[in-house]
Amino acid sequence: MPTIAYVNGHFSPIEQATISIEDRGFQFGDGVYEVVRTYGGGAFRLHDHLSRLESSARAVSIPVPLSRTEWEALIREGLQRSRYGECLVYIQLTRGVAPRAHLFPSSAKPTVVMTFQEIPETGGALQRQGVPAVTLSDLRWGRCSIKSLNLLANVLAKQEASDAGALEAILVKDGLVTEGCSSNVCLVKDGNIVTPPLSDQLLAGVTRAVVLELARKNGIVVEEREVSEEELTRADELFLIGTTIEVLPVSRLNGVPVGERVPGTVTQAVRDAFQRCILSETGGEPG
Ligand code: PDD
Repeated sequence: MPTIAYVNGHFSPIEQATISIEDRGFQFGDGVYEVVRTYGGGAFRLHDHLSRLESSARAVSIPVPLSRTEWEALIREGLQRSRYGECLVYIQLTRGVAPRAHLFPSSAKPTVVMTFQEIPETGGALQRQGVPAVTLSDLRWGRCSIKSLNLLANVLAKQEASDAGALEAILVKDGLVTEGCSSNVCLVKDGNIVTPPLSDQLLAGVTRAVVLELARKNGIVVEEREVSEEELTRADELFLIGTTIEVLPVSRLNGVPVGERVPGTVTQAVRDAFQRCILSETGGEPG
């Protein structure tokens, strides 16, 4: 079964999908994106992802060419066409095609691209074992709350982490933890979850919002406050959260084991609550 793509009104196998080399997403990274995943064939928290897409687009003055109902219908159609068990839906919106010049073009129409990729069945192995992470300098721009296509600093940090044998880089700016290259970060200290507060320095993760709400409902104290790099190294437990990784324990930070066992008690409780939430909202089994 080929992976299905959607470009400006047309579905096709991904190999046949094309965009102009003058698309501003390609030339300037002038666009925004979302990553959504399905459980039981249904997109999890689609409304939250579409709201964030709209607010990212608004923040960079790209008009959103589709209504909520239109997005939902297209995503449903893409999922039906792709016929995979579970899908990762990638949504990209750029300022459109125009001769290369920095200023906004006066007449470009936004480009909408989506892909519907199969999510391989992993049985949650990583989530049970945990993954190594490293801390690296956050070299990104000052508006990381926008889910923009400009991911070069994230790409470089992720590669540096991988070269060091880690799965994620936890980024640190001026001594304070911001987030992972493609995840939000939580630590556990004395039974409480601590995570950096929302700001221009990090993405307001859809998973972050769900996880923090579930944690509070389950009686876990959540502190949204600044976290120093030093505090991170003293954590009892550490976990990453995001659409593709769900709740992923960190087993080693910069080569040093985190806490006494992985997953730690709080991480496991959060993961269980997240899995129950997925099941109740979508009827699908978590990854
Ligand atoms: N990334 N922070 C960053 C920098 C991210 O790129 C992501 C997600 C998150 C978590 O957000 P959410 O819970 O809404 O997925 C936090 C996606 C999955 C990606 O770029 O592939």
